[in-house]
Amino acid sequence: DQAPNGCPVSARAAAFDPFGDGYQQDPPEYVRWAREQEPVFYSPKLGYWVVARYDDIKAVFRDNLTFSPSIALEKITPTGDEANQVLASYGYAMNRTLVNEDEPAHMPRRRLLMEPFTPEHLKHHEPLVRKLAREYVDRFIDDGRADLVDQMLWEVPLTVAMHFLGVPEDDMDTLRRYSIAHTVNTWGRPKPQEQVAVAHAVGNFWQHAGRILAKMRENPDAPGWMQFGIRMQKDHPEVVTDSYLHSMMMAGIVAAHETTANATANAMKLLLQHPQAWRDLCEDPGLIPNAVEECLRHNGSVAAWRRLVTRDAVVGGVALPAGSKLLIVTSSANHDEAHFADADFFDIRRDNASDHLTFGYGSHQCMGKNLARMEMQIFLEEFTRRLPHMRLAEQQFTYVPNTSFRGPEHLWVEWDPAQNPERRDP
Ligand code: HEM
Repeated sequence: DQAPNGCPVSARAAAFDPFGDGYQQDPPEYVRWAREQEPVFYSPKLGYWVVARYDDIKAVFRDNLTFSPSIALEKITPTGDEANQVLASYGYAMNRTLVNEDEPAHMPRRRLLMEPFTPEHLKHHEPLVRKLAREYVDRFIDDGRADLVDQMLWEVPLTVAMHFLGVPEDDMDTLRRYSIAHTVNTWGRPKPQEQVAVAHAVGNFWQHAGRILAKMRENPDAPGWMQFGIRMQKDHPEVVTDSYLHSMMMAGIVAAHETTANATANAMKLLLQHPQAWRDLCEDPGLIPNAVEECLRHNGSVAAWRRLVTRDAVVGGVALPAGSKLLIVTSSANHDEAHFADADFFDIRRDNASDHLTFGYGSHQCMGKNLARMEMQIFLEEFTRRLPHMRLAEQQFTYVPNTSFRGPEHLWVEWDPAQNPERRDP
């Protein structure tokens, strides 16, 4: 096998398969060999160059002209004619939002839409997060056993995402079903027969997003980031376009929901696998903010991101021709010994934990990072306070096969309800 630049492909590079169980279970471990020996390699199975080291990935993020984000939401597995026809039949026209928008269009749009993400605006969402977290824990606290994903972590961030975006709550159930299809459609490898079903779900999601947007336009003064965008469109129609609004109505739900749901599930799994860290958190909740960063570093919910090389460039000493596609494995960067001492060690007191690249870096860095952090911190505050003696149940963790969004589909935990602090000390 030869890479497009004429260099031979190593056996390990040829075997690299981000849809297999090895990558799904532990992406940084799966590419440890690359981080150590072949930090930029061509994957013939994927048709992408894979980048594994912290400094190289940061350099790629830093230069969004040479390394364009335009392919960030492109289907990583091209679909067949039948699925494409299904998508077309729904008028599916998902296009640039922010995360995949090039300059000079991106920055003015990002600046114009930033205000709702500022700390004083995010404060308004905190009581809702707290209230939901408490209500959901109330539902299972006496059961002694729960699947935290199905019974809480999937739905609460979805509800918060809806409120943040300004979506009416009665549209929630439909959107819940559609959002997962978007992940498979974009970052997964559906089989041909699955592709058609996924295409129908994505097409429906697209149309539903359009209907919600139309409703919002009737009441543009209502709270919500989408309504904020609709108001900004009045004076800046060339910056906040119709195509942007419709695409973001769909992509924004996934951006805000699955990322945060998965991040919290990954964090709880990691913490309960490290009982001493969990006990420390329960005793001193002041450690929670840094623990959240360390969880995002060690086992984040976005495992890898993508960039398109727009002009001949060199990454990690490897010459890459214009047109090359990059899979930048941020989860591998987060385990790079050159940046994080004893990188595989889980240390909730690590002083540079927040240097992780799970939120990306540079001009496209996640706009919702502080909303996500706030949610995760509140979930951990509630779990440590109310269920400090919970532990992981025996289970096999499964993941939706895809390159980028990562979290266990279920997370079973158990505890003795008689030991609940609220019972012992009401
Ligand atoms: C961008 C991850 C939560 C909104 C991104 C990017 C990543 C990411 C990797 C691309 C960064 C880059 O290209 O440099 C995450 C993770 C989250 C999370 C891991 C949760 C733990 C959220 C939430 C929202 C959100 C709650 C709320 C709406 C956005 C937006 C962008 C973005 C709007 C595009 C920014 C731009 O391109 O200028 N996120 N995200 N994210 N995220 Fe998040």
